[in-house]
Amino acid sequence: MSLQDAIKKMGEAAASLVKDNNLVGLGSGSAVAAFVNALGERIKREGLKITAIPTSMQIELIAENSGFQLERYNRINNIDIVVDGADQIDSTFNMIKGGGGAHHREKVFIEAAKKRVIVADESKYVKFLSRSVPVEVSTFARHFVWKRLEALGGRPKVRTLEKGYPYFTENGNIILDTEFGEIKTPPKLETDIHKIPGIVANGIFTMKIDHFFKAKADGRVEKISK
Ligand code: A5P
Repeated sequence: MSLQDAIKKMGEAAASLVKDNNLVGLGSGSAVAAFVNALGERIKREGLKITAIPTSMQIELIAENSGFQLERYNRINNIDIVVDGADQIDSTFNMIKGGGGAHHREKVFIEAAKKRVIVADESKYVKFLSRSVPVEVSTFARHFVWKRLEALGGRPKVRTLEKGYPYFTENGNIILDTEFGEIKTPPKLETDIHKIPGIVANGIFTMKIDHFFKAKADGRVEKISK
């Protein structure tokens, strides 16, 4: 059994939480893709009627081939369950998200959903958050935001594509990946960044999550319910 087997199993475990007629919020990333595939299998096997709203084109492309009926953002308040991935999860279950640039929509989806589920492999679980925080910024405000992030102790860097072109989110903004070292109080940093005008969303997530799944290299999957 490998980590890949465990990620597949984790997708199936998360898919088993979805009920017939649910409206499912789809986060983004590879772990969510495993969930989408597993739920697609369940739909075929059990003839379930499931509708879904994607947070990004990445997951939309996967979902549209999986037997889902896709819904629009006007149904966001009706999301029964959201399943999303994470880039880092600390020992008190705060997260950093946005490695794929989709954290703005993901934050809204998670807040809106009745049930919240995170799927991530064991490498994402750490004691303290320490990777750079993705900060989505309206382009015109980038110099102002940059200075304010530095004032908070951050070291911002514009996210770029391979050839140096800036990365633009699906909302038309840029991302400043900002290093803060080890983040000892994520809720405070999340709020401090959130207060800076010109920022659309930051990648620190501190809201309550119902279930975390952890896929392990030995093939096992752990479920942590809060
Ligand atoms: C998307 O912007 C992120 O928040 C993803 O949820 C995160 O990067 C997890 O992706 P993987 O499951 O591919 O690691």
